Amino acid sequence: MKNIVILISGRGSNLQAILDSGLPVKVAAVISNKADAAGLETARRHGIATAALNHRDYPSREAFDAALAEKIDGFKPDLVVLAGFMRILSDGFVAHYAGRLINIHPSLLPAFTGLDTHRRALAEGVKIHGCTVHFVTPTLDHGPIVVQAAVPVLDSDDEESLAARVLAQEHRVYPLAIRWFAENKLTLRGDGKVNFSGGCRSDSVLHSPWEIV
Ligand code: GAR
Repeated sequence: MKNIVILISGRGSNLQAILDSGLPVKVAAVISNKADAAGLETARRHGIATAALNHRDYPSREAFDAALAEKIDGFKPDLVVLAGFMRILSDGFVAHYAGRLINIHPSLLPAFTGLDTHRRALAEGVKIHGCTVHFVTPTLDHGPIVVQAAVPVLDSDDEESLAARVLAQEHRVYPLAIRWFAENKLTLRGDGKVNFSGGCRSDSVLHSPWEIV
């Protein structure tokens, strides 16, 4: 069974969804850059090891990332899962975890990288919005796409209602992507393309026109 380490900064609803999904993985640890992240309490309730490293205690991004990597590597992860980990990662950190570092972002990338994705989607008047699971590369919110789920944007939407609609999809596709990785169906090829095998596409829950693998 593969070992995963999950990095969070806050609420941890994606963490909760991953834990609730009965995945064939061992969640070896949940690590946060914020000691008061609510998701750490969720992890403790599940008997999962936790750690908090405050980035303000380190002189540079590189120093924090090196300490973080040392902490992560103590748990020998096959996969590192960014679940609302709100930090820009240094190139060295990303290179160290090449092919075994994934992120979820609340937009249909490459649209709306960065923060406030739902507010910006509403301001642009887009009709379709969603979320993306991708392998992490040094460019923020960028990298080979694993799965996206799309939702309609309704005239009646505000930021909160749109965020909730997208979040429900995040909670569905992130466990799905982790399952594919755990079952050796998902790898990142040397040329930077995502490789699916073992029926990833066909045996997944492609029951809705809004879900695109
Ligand atoms: C999620 O919406 C996730 O997509 C987003 O932070 C939220 C964390 O919520 N991540 C990013 O914006 C990364 N660029 P959660 O703590 O409840 O899982």
